[in-house]
Order: sequence, then C-alpha cells, then structure tokens
Amino acid sequence: MDLDQTFIQAPEHRADSNFIPNQPEEIPVIDLSRLNDPEDIQNVISEIGDACETWGFFQVINHGVPCDARKRVEETVKIFFDLPMEEKIKVKRDEVNPAGYHDGEHTKNVRDWKEVFDIYFKDPMVMPSSTDPEDEGLRVVYNKWPQFPSDFREACQEYAGHAEKLAFRLLELISLSLGLPKERFHDYFKEQMSFFRINRYPPCPRPDLALGVGHHKDADVISLLAQDEVGGLQISRRSDGVWFPIRPVPNALVINIGNCMEVWTNDKYWSAEHRVVVNSTRERYSIPFFLLPSHDVEVKPLEELLSPENPPRYKGYKYGKFYVSRNRSDFKKLEIQNIQIDDFKVVT
Ligand code: OGA
Ligand code: NI
Repeated sequence: MDLDQTFIQAPEHRADSNFIPNQPEEIPVIDLSRLNDPEDIQNVISEIGDACETWGFFQVINHGVPCDARKRVEETVKIFFDLPMEEKIKVKRDEVNPAGYHDGEHTKNVRDWKEVFDIYFKDPMVMPSSTDPEDEGLRVVYNKWPQFPSDFREACQEYAGHAEKLAFRLLELISLSLGLPKERFHDYFKEQMSFFRINRYPPCPRPDLALGVGHHKDADVISLLAQDEVGGLQISRRSDGVWFPIRPVPNALVINIGNCMEVWTNDKYWSAEHRVVVNSTRERYSIPFFLLPSHDVEVKPLEELLSPENPPRYKGYKYGKFYVSRNRSDFKKLEIQNIQIDDFKVVT
C-alpha cells in the first residue's frame, strides 16, 4: 500500500538504520522500594546518576504510581480514541491553545504515525504569547475535555497527580546524585508548564518507511513514560549512536533526561535521542508525563557544577520562549529545522 509522502522518513532515519537486533545490553531497571532501606539509598542514588550519564534513560519499578490509576487512564483514553473523528476533533488543539487532540504532529518536519491528546498539569497554564524575545506578553491556556467518556477528566487528573509526585521524587534523587541539595531545582517549577500526553500509534502499513515518532530529544527536564506491552520505543546509545529497544516491563515507568537537565548539568547527564517504531498489526499506547519548568526560568548550566576545567557549554535561554518556538513547528512542515538545544551551545 502506498503511504502518504508526508510520513516517509529519510533512509538514514528509518527503523532499520543503525539498529542491531538482539543486543544483550539493557537500560537499567531500578527498584525504588529499595529507598525504604536506609543502607541502600546511596546505591540507588548512584545507580540513577550512572544511568543518567551513560544512557539518559532508565526504568523504575515499585515507583508509587498506583497500578489502578494507570489502568483506569489507559482504559478511559482508549474509549476516547476509538470514537469517530468527528467527535475527536471537537476537542482539537489549535495554534493558540496546544491542549487537546491532535493527529498531525511533525517531528523534525516529517509527520508522525500517531494521534495524541495533550493535557496541562496546571489548568490554566501560563505561557508566552509569542516567540518574539522582546514581547513580554503572556497567554493563559485551558485544558480541553471531551464530553465522553465522562470520567476522562477525572481519570487523567488522578493519574497526573501521581506522576507529578514521582517526577519530583526523581528530581530530588537526581539532584542528590549530582552532589547538590535535594531541593536544588524546586524553585524552577512555581508555574510549571508540565503536561502529559496520550500517544496512540495505530497499526501502520509501512513500518519500514514511517515512524510513530521520529528521532528527537525531549525538550523538558525529565519524562516519565507508561508504555503498554507492545513495544517500539528505541533509544540511541550515547557512546556510539546504535539504537536499543526499551523493553516493556509490566507496570514500570520509563524515565529519561530532557534538554533542561542536560543544560543544567553542562552535558554531564545525557538527553538521549529516541524514536518509536510502529508495526503493521497492533496499535500501541503510551502515556508520557513531561516535567517542564516555569516559562520565566532561564535555563543555563548550574554555577555549582562549573569550574575552569568545565566552562559553560550553553548560553542561557528563557524556557517559555524556547517552548513556544518548538510548538510552532509541530503543526506543519516548515522549510527550516525547528529550534534545537544545540542552537544554544557555546561555540568553542
Ligand atoms: C514522546 C516519546 C515515546 C513512546 O512522546 O516524546 O518519545 O514510546 N514517546 O511513545
Ligand atoms: Ni520523546
């Protein structure tokens, strides 16, 4: 079957490129119940630190997000996505308000084989009104909720509450792993722009040509992803760029480092490129929670981690402006590559 041109990845980005099947190496799975044992806490913290440095990814089990809350949201959103398109577009995202349903997202100017639903953690949420650095105007964004299924909102809010709690627990552990005070990052989240997303990847006739999500780095602080049992998420190994699968582990959450943490740590911690491979027979769901700072936070390498031997590798940038610029290109194919974190690298 022919695939619409907009979905076709360049040959070097397709599912089979730089992927070596049956590699034994696995991303660490860390059991957070070990934090209940005072003698094991330091080991957990250093395992998290190592994972952030080597992979930029790890999985957690016994993480405190109740299975019931996750199951409920998974079942509820499936009912929504199974509705006819006329229903789904009633809560469609638009150029002013990025919350709601969307099926045309582009990653690096190629269309993704997926549908999404975005929900802000804070409702309403405040973000800059334009990408212009001189413009200090703000806009207030409200979530959109479908009428049906009727418990969609409650199920999502319940799950998001648990996910956010875990996000801050992980942030504290990451902070400790850097030798910083536990609450070092807290002030950056007073007006957090965090959101969570439901991804549905329908079966795809040409998984060799299209991707569920093209290769990208997450633009947030950390992401916590619930994936179902189908599989398809792959990450690029820091040392050589070879792609590795993230094996679905029942009830685990996949954690990854985003651009902000990479900049704060001056590249000590790694924000790994990742992508989603689709398949021809099964649909797949995933639910990421993206932890984002407040719009007015200037993201730059932390002073405490810098030294004459480790000078800053990034210029600072205002988080909200960066976010708004990124969002603009999610709608359509632009003639230019959208803004990337490397645009803030200090040229040496
Ligand atoms: C994302 C993403 C991975 C997945 O939404 O940014 O990388 O497995 N998703 O759905
Ligand atoms: Ni991602």
